Amino acid sequence: MAGQTDYREAVIRPVAAGHVGSAKPTLPLADENATNALAARVAMIARPGDVLALWGGLGVGKTFFARAFIRARVGAPVEVPSPTFTLVQTYEGAKPVAADIFHFDLFRIDAAEEALELGIEDAFASAISLIEWPDRLGPFLPSQRLDVVLADVPAAAMARQLTLTGHGDWQQRLREAGFA
Ligand SMILES: Nc1ncnc2c1ncn2[C@@H]1O[C@H](COP(=O)(O)OP(=O)(O)OP(=O)(O)O)[C@@H](O)[C@H]1O
Ligand SMILES: [Mg+2]
Repeated sequence: MAGQTDYREAVIRPVAAGHVGSAKPTLPLADENATNALAARVAMIARPGDVLALWGGLGVGKTFFARAFIRARVGAPVEVPSPTFTLVQTYEGAKPVAADIFHFDLFRIDAAEEALELGIEDAFASAISLIEWPDRLGPFLPSQRLDVVLADVPAAAMARQLTLTGHGDWQQRLREAGFA
């Protein structure tokens, strides 16, 4: 009816689109291709100075997501080893604008201060930071960041559920990019 809000539409539409809340889309990833595509989409809206915290348990796909993100920015199928032992790997991204990418795996650090020795502050200042096991950073984890949360899907070995939670200007950027 003209001039009246259709509350059923307002409630039903976000759910049908697979979203929970306006700035916190939960996206079903059916298989590795879906993860690759989603990571590439996120990669295209990242900017120098961005921090992406990759959350999720052992083997859920944090490195897989980071690999797809990095390849999308580099624009070529570069080798992206897991930084399990090196703790950090760096890349020169070219797309859509040039930006260094620091890929951290902090699982093995014993104290948050150790991350400073890895150059994490420089990364925060001018590069794009992808951080596996971000809980290890404690108080050094920037409050302005994008949380990328990966979870397994019971009884679907290749499927994952991904939630994007934007903090600071990420909320608006997610909306503008059609994620929320
Ligand atoms: N839809 C999917 N998305 C991402 N990875 C998937 C998917 N389906 C299967 N996989 C597989 O799950 C594994 C994820 O391993 P990955 O090393 O990325 O995990 P991780 O979260 O980085 O683990 P760790 O905590 O040990 O660093 C890979 O072998 C990948 O091929
Ligand atoms: Mg990993």
